Amino acid sequence: MSETLMPSSSSACPDDAAQPIWLFGYGSLIYKTGFVFKTRRPASIKGWTRRFWQGSHDHRGTLEAPGRVATLVPQDGAICHGMAYLITPDVLDGLDIREKNGYLRVVTDLYFDDGERSEALVYMATEGNEAWLGEASALEIARQISTACGPSGPNRDYLLMLAASLRDMGHDDAHVHAIEQALLALETRAGTP
Ligand code: BEZ
Repeated sequence: MSETLMPSSSSACPDDAAQPIWLFGYGSLIYKTGFVFKTRRPASIKGWTRRFWQGSHDHRGTLEAPGRVATLVPQDGAICHGMAYLITPDVLDGLDIREKNGYLRVVTDLYFDDGERSEALVYMATEGNEAWLGEASALEIARQISTACGPSGPNRDYLLMLAASLRDMGHDDAHVHAIEQALLALETRAGTP
């Protein structure tokens, strides 16, 4: 894997300002864009795995009751499947605001599902950031997600939409789908939602 850390506020050279760039989404960006893009293509990045280890104080939870959302953690041999969007750099201004709460932009190698390659920006929240929650069992994560809710809506919706989108794209993500199953079992037992 090859990647470069960029502060979210860094600006490109003026000449680069209109050059389209690839943005790789592995969480809510797979199913919810809300920004203008030129095209999108299924793709993956290598050496990273998706984990619900990042707390959410401002989207899917609150400071008092944080939710849990996806971030990437390094893992040898891992492949993280998602969606790549071709965007103009100005789109990042909106996303930097939307994806604050511990996320940085990283440049990494991008592998399209059709075999082509490029480079992409990806947002990730690294261990130790202000909202980091870290590892927990699928059941513990599901319990936390089942009750958390923030300005962007219930945390369960984020999880279920991501799990369904990955399935629709033909990907089995053991971590995400184990949490989904644990959440659905909790809700069945409780007779909710
Ligand atoms: C993503 O889908 O790639 C993403 C969404 C929110 C924060 C960081 C990344």
